[in-house]
Amino acid sequence: MEKKNLDWQNLGFGYVTTDKRFVANYKDGKWDEGALTEDPNIVMNECAGVLQYAQTCFEGLKAYTTKSGHIVTFRPDLNADRLISSCKRLEMPVFPKEKFIDAVSAVVAANEAWVPPFGSGATLYIRPYIFGINPVIGVKPADEYQFRIFATPVGPYFKGGAKPLTIKVSDFDRAAPKGTGNIKAGANYAMSLHAIVTAHQEGFDENMYLDPATRTKVEETGGANFLFVTKDNKVVTPKSDSILPSITRRSLMVVAKEYLGLEVEEREVYFDEVKDFAECGLCGTAAVISPVGKIVDHGKEICLPSGMDSMGPVTKKLYDTLTGIQMGEIEAPKGWIHVIK
Ligand code: PLP
Ligand code: COI
Repeated sequence: MEKKNLDWQNLGFGYVTTDKRFVANYKDGKWDEGALTEDPNIVMNECAGVLQYAQTCFEGLKAYTTKSGHIVTFRPDLNADRLISSCKRLEMPVFPKEKFIDAVSAVVAANEAWVPPFGSGATLYIRPYIFGINPVIGVKPADEYQFRIFATPVGPYFKGGAKPLTIKVSDFDRAAPKGTGNIKAGANYAMSLHAIVTAHQEGFDENMYLDPATRTKVEETGGANFLFVTKDNKVVTPKSDSILPSITRRSLMVVAKEYLGLEVEEREVYFDEVKDFAECGLCGTAAVISPVGKIVDHGKEICLPSGMDSMGPVTKKLYDTLTGIQMGEIEAPKGWIHVIK
């Protein structure tokens, strides 16, 4: 298989139209078989549910070329489960788990030429999503839906790769206490756009959102969960009902405990404690683990002891072990790696 002639080492996190995508339609109470198509465009009615009331949710996962030349995905079963939770919360029909995993594999296999080579630092980002497609004008769920998956080769989510980020404590909320923060609803991202544009204009890379009820606890950023490392090397991650259950974060907690022998804690993290941590990272499919060097709370700077030049030592070990597992250099826990080819 001849690979596309891309500058793999210098890819950013952007959309590139690849060869094939998967489309399935839900009508009269059931999903059709679905198929791969070459057409990246969607034609829908002007009153489609997704356009009027944002009835849409999505997933994000990656395909990797391993050291031995296989193409694999990482824990796609957990993306299937999370999409099911998102659909239930948004009154959308669920897409069956086995079919989800098969469709992801079909899209990756059909775009094999776009899967970045081992060692390039790039990966194939896979974006499954479901949206209401028939006309809806009264506020209610759609009756017809489309499920699609496209794939696009990507490099690091944050420009500068492993360079520590500067983030600000946001004055905006990302999620309500009993809202949709724990699912991957498109609407969560729509409402974070003003906050991220504002943060970028002020020179920050991302926002730290606090819990919307008391604004005393750390939640997450617009696109990643937090991991902190204490000065005695304990890995701590915030627990909250209004953050997305990150697959990367859940995996890293296993890596920290089982591979690195570190103590791990998932618990409420008060913002007041942040100044005492040794390291901080943002974790997610797109972010992998991106180190944070500085957190700014209304002009007050918290400088993590790991500094602004490189990842802290524990973050680096977590990063190397997780990516080693994903790229087939380190043996994975059972069921984590789904081999496509
Ligand atoms: N939190 C938010 C808000 C996200 O958008 C993402 C990205 O998917 C994550 C966390 C990380 O989740 P995962 O590790 O499953 O990609
Ligand atoms: C992902 O990491 O897959 C996400 O969906 C985050 C998004 C900000 C790109």
